[in-house]
Amino acid sequence: METLIQYLLLALALTSVQISYTESRLNEKRRDKTERRYHAAQAKDNMCEIANRESKVHCYCENTEIKTATRADCWVFNGGIDETDPIWASFNSQPLLEKLTFNVRSDGALKFVPLNVIHKLKRLQKLQIHYATLSKIEKKTFTNMSTVREITLMNNKIMELDFSAFANLPSLVNLTIKGNKVTEIQRDVFVDLPSLRYLDLSFNSINLAHDGCFEHLNVLNDLVLEANLISVLTRDTFRGLANLTRLDLRSNKLSMIGDLTFIELWNLNELLLDNNELKYLSERAFDGLAMLQKLSMTGNKLQSINEVLLEGVRGLELLDLRNNEIELFSYETVKPILENLKLKTSVLYLSGNKLRCDCRLSWIQVLRNETKSEPLRQALDEVTCVPNVADNVDNALSPKSNDVKDLKTDLDVDADDDSFQQDGNEDETYSEANSAYKLEDEKSLNQVVLVDMPPESLPCPGQLGQNGEDSLMLSSKDENYWQSSSSGKLLSSAVGILTTLLLNLSH
Ligand SMILES: *[C@@H]1O[C@H](CO)[C@@H](O)[C@H](O)[C@H]1NC(C)=O
Ligand SMILES: *[C@@H]1O[C@H](CO)[C@@H](O)[C@H](O)[C@H]1NC(C)=O
Ligand SMILES: *[C@@H]1O[C@H](CO)[C@@H](O)[C@H](O)[C@H]1NC(C)=O
Repeated sequence: METLIQYLLLALALTSVQISYTESRLNEKRRDKTERRYHAAQAKDNMCEIANRESKVHCYCENTEIKTATRADCWVFNGGIDETDPIWASFNSQPLLEKLTFNVRSDGALKFVPLNVIHKLKRLQKLQIHYATLSKIEKKTFTNMSTVREITLMNNKIMELDFSAFANLPSLVNLTIKGNKVTEIQRDVFVDLPSLRYLDLSFNSINLAHDGCFEHLNVLNDLVLEANLISVLTRDTFRGLANLTRLDLRSNKLSMIGDLTFIELWNLNELLLDNNELKYLSERAFDGLAMLQKLSMTGNKLQSINEVLLEGVRGLELLDLRNNEIELFSYETVKPILENLKLKTSVLYLSGNKLRCDCRLSWIQVLRNETKSEPLRQALDEVTCVPNVADNVDNALSPKSNDVKDLKTDLDVDADDDSFQQDGNEDETYSEANSAYKLEDEKSLNQVVLVDMPPESLPCPGQLGQNGEDSLMLSSKDENYWQSSSSGKLLSSAVGILTTLLLNLSH
């Protein structure tokens, strides 16, 4: 009897265990499927061999065995993966990864930085995320990764970089945040990055770089800010960048550079300011750039270059000023770098400007003969200048010339254009016609190749004849001079006559 009771009790106990087991199984089924799959994935999935066709991530590794891969390229497909997706657990299968790339294949499929994965990779050196939707890099997103040398975040629609977004990354050498929508660089975004040498923020929408925003980056060599919307630089923008050798500010919105803007960049070797809207360079704009060898400002709106501008950059060996609106580049201006320009590899580019053909450019002809630099010789051969406009009209009006009428009409039309534009009611067709006239105009004004002009044919401002602006000023001065001196003569001769008269009378 006793054994029977014992047996029954045991059976009962077993049943309840069975029941509770089944119950728990049912519960588990009811529970979030994701979690179950998570455990399953953690147990056996290898990120390099993800078999599930529905998986939102697929990775290709150079070695696929568990714990052997050092490089993985992962593609994230449509569906919008979240941080709890079981797939992330499979990344535990490859703890030795040194390089990890995420390429997102459809819009919005990845909206966060998979930090859980990244922080477990104790050997990670290179991390790349492309085409994700990251919007904002939060405070300390990238921090305390002691092995990471390169982070590339390209085309991720990043709009904001929070304070300390990149902090305490002792090995980080290269940080590329290219092709995003960042509008502002605040202070203290980049902190404790003692190895950072290369920072690329190009192709964003940066319109404001706060004073001192790069000041912790004192070993930075190369700062790329190309293709942004920066319109203002102050002498504090680049504070602290004492080791910078290359600064790329091409294709921004700069219209002026004030005094001492680059004063802290005493190691800078290359400064690129092409394709901005530069109109004004203050005379000490480049002071402090003692090591600068290459300065490039093509495609701006410069009309003149201050005569002392280059005194701050006497080491310059390449100066590129193509496609501006410069009318005069005098001997005084070029003087601080003239000796450099005689060296073998140096170049000064001046083509595509509106230089006036006069004797103030004759140094170009001399330099062309003296320099040992073949590239410079070629560059100078391409320099063109505009012959004096009024001279042209004069020549045109002389009976010898055939194109009297054409040129005269062109100029008249041009004058009409101006008044028409001022009325502000020009329509599209008209402005097309207008630009056609302008082209025609330029052709008839015919920029001439400077080095082809005989030196004696370059008029000097004082001898420009009666037509140039300069000569107009001079001739009116001359007139005054003559007037005053002739009245002086008149006076003195009057005095003379009087004296003679008086003398005669006294006798
Ligand atoms: C990073 O490391 C520092 C010490 O090295 C620690 O104080 C800090 O809490 C860590 N930060 C994070 C976000 O892990
Ligand atoms: C930095 O990384 C980018 C992106 O991988 C690469 O294109 C660039 O060459 C690297 N620069 C340096 C100096 O290593
Ligand atoms: C420039 O970098 C070198 C190391 O490359 C470092 O010793 C030096 O202190 C840096 N200069 C400044 C001003 O930080």
